[in-house]
Amino acid sequence: MAADKAQLSVDVSKSGPKIDRNIFGQFAEHLGHGIYEGVWVGPDSDIPNTRGIRNDVVAALRELKVPNVRWPGGCFADEYHWRKGIGPADKRAATLNPNWGGVIEPNTFGTDEFMDFIHQIGSQAYLSVNVGTGSPQEAAEWLEYLTAAQPTALAKERAANGHPAPYEIGFLGIGNESWACGGNMTPDYYLDQLKIYSRFVRNFNPAQQQGEHQMLKIAVGPGDAGTEWTETIMRAYKHRQWSWDINGLSLHSYTVVKWPPAYASVGFGIDEYSRILKSTLDMESLIGKQSAVMDKYDPEKKVALVVDEWGAWYAPLPGTNPGFLSQQNSLRDAILAALNLNIFARHADRVRMANIAQMVNVLQAMILTDKEKMVLTPTYHVFRMYVPFQDATFVPVSFDAGTYTHGDITLPRIDAIAAKDKSGKLWLEVTNIDPERPVDIEAYLTGMDIRSAAGEMLTAPKVDSVNTFDAPNAVAPKPVAVKYQGSKLMVTVAPKSVTVISVGQ
Ligand code: AHR
Repeated sequence: MAADKAQLSVDVSKSGPKIDRNIFGQFAEHLGHGIYEGVWVGPDSDIPNTRGIRNDVVAALRELKVPNVRWPGGCFADEYHWRKGIGPADKRAATLNPNWGGVIEPNTFGTDEFMDFIHQIGSQAYLSVNVGTGSPQEAAEWLEYLTAAQPTALAKERAANGHPAPYEIGFLGIGNESWACGGNMTPDYYLDQLKIYSRFVRNFNPAQQQGEHQMLKIAVGPGDAGTEWTETIMRAYKHRQWSWDINGLSLHSYTVVKWPPAYASVGFGIDEYSRILKSTLDMESLIGKQSAVMDKYDPEKKVALVVDEWGAWYAPLPGTNPGFLSQQNSLRDAILAALNLNIFARHADRVRMANIAQMVNVLQAMILTDKEKMVLTPTYHVFRMYVPFQDATFVPVSFDAGTYTHGDITLPRIDAIAAKDKSGKLWLEVTNIDPERPVDIEAYLTGMDIRSAAGEMLTAPKVDSVNTFDAPNAVAPKPVAVKYQGSKLMVTVAPKSVTVISVGQ
């Protein structure tokens, strides 16, 4: 089909906020095969592992430069008691996971295993502490176990478990969805809890007492467009006393269209493609609405909006335990991921952290595993293509997106962002949502004399194309031809594609 044309104007002389690398964070919950089998196989497994953690998964995640991992939940976090997950493996008590299929939780992957995993993939820990069924004391002792440098009984216990040096904990989430699975709390009740946890759950690591290594505390925030919760927390934040503080407010938003999740993750057509992408674009107004409330009480934007659960939530795959939230991951999900990452980047002054749900085998995963087999999903490839945007400086792009219409649904035809990295290289991302027509892009890079340009594009024959264990590279990025002349750059982006281009001057 003949290509459409679109002009982009990239003002390289202007720069916006830093696109915080933490927006590329991930979420790994004790849910289905997210941890057990997906990350943890145990040291005695035939699957190649390092101290029980899968080598193939670690190697794949290292490529993504995952900035932070949220753990152990989710709803699981508010029923998690950390002491059951430390010490000799054969002494750990099996418990239940009532949220997710009612299966046995063996507790063989606990605090020290998680920190080992974080270390192996080169990431930062984002711990969710138990507010629902735990206590401030339990959470405070967990942090003492993890971070105390002095020889307290808990620090000695950590040393006996193999880690004498204090761990570094980057982020602390105080509860999870406390308005629902985290205890059905009212905003005021949660606020009282938040103040107590914020005061007493301390990080004792001497290297984290001040400066950029300080642990950031994240409060539970809203899960929809209602603003009462945000108002309550942010109003209190504005009038806070010295004895409590927060650095982030969480926001959860899944692309689901209707509840319970009914859209199939594979075997769908243009209609479902269009409806899901239309729905995912609501992230823009949701962030806008919650940010406006935050701006009222925190105009200096000290508190980050942390979108620590986002992604597509589809119907469980037939034949799987519905509590395991197993779904396939298609080209549609790659486009959905790019659209959301672009929204976060455009709100980089307020959205400084986000965590896709989830990392392995659950919901919109990066990686799927089956025993010894592993496959990288289309979403994985998008995260890999976006690595150069981590901590890069946002550069404004203006364009007429055009429209794509399917039945009663109208979507923007294209989307784009740009950023400059520390070496001065410009990175341009273009998403073509239109599943039928290519688009000839002409980008004018004001203030830049282009000396080199190269790009890669992710697309596939169908909107529901997926990678499987038998055909793992059906959806994989390939080099794309990019032309340039002076400050003009030209590229044709295929229908339903994600393209990232690097430009040198
Ligand atoms: O990611 C799955 C679940 O979705 C999380 O446990 C919960 O926080 C949310 O409702």
